[in-house]
Amino acid sequence: MIMLALAHNTTAAAQLKATSLRCEYRTNPLAMDVAKPRLSWIVESSKRGTIQTAYEIFVASDPKILGEGRGDLWESGKVEGDQNTQIAYAGKSLQTRKQCFWKVRIWDNHGNISPFSAIASWRMGLLTGADWTGSWIGLAGDTSRDLRPDPFVRKEFNVQKGIRRATAYIITRGLFIASLNGSRIGHDVLSPEWTDYRKRIQYLTYDVTPQIKKGANCVGIIIGDGWYSGFVGFGKLPNNYGSQTSALMQLHIEFADGTEEVIATDQSWRGSFGPILSSDLLMGEEYDARLEMNGWDKPGFNDKRWQPVAVYPKPTARLVPLPTEPVRITQLLKPRRITEPKKGIFVIDLGQNIAGFVRLKVHGKAGREITMRHAEVLNPDGTIYTTNLRRAKATEKYTLGGKGIESYEPHFTFHGFRYVEVTGYPGKPAMDAITGCAINTDLPITGSFGCSDKIVNQLVSNISWSQRGNFISIPTDCPQRDERLGWMGDAQIFVRTAAFDMDVSSFMTKWMYDVVDAQSPDGAFMDTSPFVDKNGTFGAPGWGDAGIIVPWNIYRCYGDTRMIDDHFEAMERWMQYMAEANPDFIRKNRLNNNYGDWLSIDAETPKDLLATAFWAYDARLMVDMASATGRTEAQQKYEAVFDSVKSAFQKAYISADGKIHGATQTGYVLALAFNLMPDDLRQAAAQFIIDDIKAKKGHLSTGFIGVKYLNPVLTETGHADVAYQLLFNKTFPSWGFPITQGATTIWERWDGWTTDKGFQDPGMNSFNHYSMGSVGEWLYRHVAGIDLGEKPGYKEIIVHPRVTEQLSHVSASYSSPQGVIKSEWAQKKGRFTFNVAIPANTVATIYVPAKSPDVVRESGKPVKDSPELIFVRHENGCAVFKAGSGAYRFESVLH
Ligand code: BGC
Repeated sequence: MIMLALAHNTTAAAQLKATSLRCEYRTNPLAMDVAKPRLSWIVESSKRGTIQTAYEIFVASDPKILGEGRGDLWESGKVEGDQNTQIAYAGKSLQTRKQCFWKVRIWDNHGNISPFSAIASWRMGLLTGADWTGSWIGLAGDTSRDLRPDPFVRKEFNVQKGIRRATAYIITRGLFIASLNGSRIGHDVLSPEWTDYRKRIQYLTYDVTPQIKKGANCVGIIIGDGWYSGFVGFGKLPNNYGSQTSALMQLHIEFADGTEEVIATDQSWRGSFGPILSSDLLMGEEYDARLEMNGWDKPGFNDKRWQPVAVYPKPTARLVPLPTEPVRITQLLKPRRITEPKKGIFVIDLGQNIAGFVRLKVHGKAGREITMRHAEVLNPDGTIYTTNLRRAKATEKYTLGGKGIESYEPHFTFHGFRYVEVTGYPGKPAMDAITGCAINTDLPITGSFGCSDKIVNQLVSNISWSQRGNFISIPTDCPQRDERLGWMGDAQIFVRTAAFDMDVSSFMTKWMYDVVDAQSPDGAFMDTSPFVDKNGTFGAPGWGDAGIIVPWNIYRCYGDTRMIDDHFEAMERWMQYMAEANPDFIRKNRLNNNYGDWLSIDAETPKDLLATAFWAYDARLMVDMASATGRTEAQQKYEAVFDSVKSAFQKAYISADGKIHGATQTGYVLALAFNLMPDDLRQAAAQFIIDDIKAKKGHLSTGFIGVKYLNPVLTETGHADVAYQLLFNKTFPSWGFPITQGATTIWERWDGWTTDKGFQDPGMNSFNHYSMGSVGEWLYRHVAGIDLGEKPGYKEIIVHPRVTEQLSHVSASYSSPQGVIKSEWAQKKGRFTFNVAIPANTVATIYVPAKSPDVVRESGKPVKDSPELIFVRHENGCAVFKAGSGAYRFESVLH
């Protein structure tokens, strides 16, 4: 008996594992303010058709306790079921700074028990006001000036005893870079990022144990303006949230003997202005290396000439831990080319439009000034084109210190650019004089997509680069001009594409706080979030609706019902805001800045039609979200709203033959996508789109809003061929056209620049706007065919590629919350090969393109030999199978 049990366990170990343990979507986070953090893991198994049948979680205050097979904080017991994500901690209540270690083991349907997972951890943050014992300090600068120098503050302290652990909590009204004993704390940039500083300010938490030493230590902070007091958006003035920057830091040092000491910002710190003469997100940075204060953040520096810091009142805003990954430099780019279009003016081409800044390397005489201006595109004469940046100066000025080789990168700014114009450089810059630093919120990359068509691959790359450039703390419209706002329309249109490319769960969790913080007292969602006074328009159809659409997408993609619970009331207030003003269920009131199908091509969709369609869609999503969270009454209420809006919509806008008011592609596409077309008219409506595309010689005319739904609707109504035609189109307007003009990111306008016409209207011509890139979703969902089934969070997966003669192969993968899903297909002379990977603990429906079910083979054998595959039906040229987890190698014949 004993022998048998042992044998059983050993095989189990090889077959079944719980990996990738995460807490609130993150790996070992250092500060949680969620009372019941949600835990998740991925089930891995080498055996096909694996489903987790039970789990057991142990949470302890010390890994030793876990080692003893106990959890002093929580023992879940053996819980039956397949849940492996979104499991709320249900143990002892967790106090400030509590550290929790956890592990899990799982059971599966093949009778295996996994070994315990590797140990993961999370720590609670500073949960109450009383935990913040430090003072908010800064240096009174000249706040009447638009651009001002950035203060440096410092403090020396002594450590006498052996250290067990040291944690730094840092928060600023402004931005910060902190260092300990001369080395930087963390490697994030633009922390603590953007929130409405009047309501919420984020702190960052760092484990600094290795940076502290016995004896004398020094901690230093540089404070920048950033979103708090610099220029934001197209407002004419800085100081959106305040004019005086300040910082609060607490360094908690825990000693080996169990005692603890807190080094906190207070009036004993000293401060000075230094080499950063000004630094602004939009304008750029001025830096004079001659004013560097060598060793300022090391012990022993002589700070006699520094001033005592000023102490500022505490904010009334909530202080919260950053709930997502910080912004970091995620890629370094070497110059491709250096030209000299005018004497002494060098233009460096990074070959890729990015958001970030450059690192400069230089050797020269003290006092020499180098100017670096950033631009996305060039004039025909090879000089940089900056008119489209509007008021953003995007300029760095660096004055040399003259001491050997100098290296400089700006501290508190970023630009959207591909080209850097360098003037004042001593001699000609060498290829290593400039390095491009691309920054973005450092989320895990989850998607990859490649195929046999070069233009499509470039499109995928452009989408992904536009996502990076615009996922900097919040989802923005563009990273270059004086805008960079959290435009809600852009975010909702792109969120699903974004969720393929990166794990956006924690990022959107953070942004939804901004959205709700910005909501007006009468329930309107803003057009941009976080709220900025001067840009504070609200309620626009397709923009405000993001407050419903984003949480629904996060629920669908990650199975997140907590986001729904957290914001349900806010969403209801938005629904009420619309309903109050539109008693006849046509949304024509309270539309404010009604942008409509922004940037459509000579095809204006009637604005009340678009607005009403989105209202119906919101209602539909509310039904879904109410049902997912057990809100029966609300579910019924929004079912009724949906029905009323739908019938009002049909009456007002759809004629008996399926023609829609305004007859634009977007009108049809929204009616079809949002299920507002009577069933018997769906095909007729789809045909109108096809006819319109034909009449436009194979072109789309949708704007920002319609474009996302166009190819999915065409595909789902049986016209994948037309969707492909649009994909492969290379003439204006199309996704391919900007690529033929050299685009390396998605452009705001299809014709931002053309060889014939030159630049579009400089008042609004960004070369890095992800909205039109919302077709990325279709590439994953329909071309590769990786899609969600009915259950959220990829518990049920659909793999359904749409094959076209124009592609010989497609290869995509997506790291879902359940593990990696793969779809790789290739065709040659009617023979089709198809590799599919389905993660453990999920089920899938796989559509294998095949002329008939009996030509399908799997791993070289007839399908009936694979017990994990159950044939369901043959439909539209595909053999459809229900499948358990595992890797499958299909072969079939297409025709
Ligand atoms: C932004 C857009 C935004 C729009 C509102 C523009 O200036 O760049 O992306 O959604 O305004 O229509």
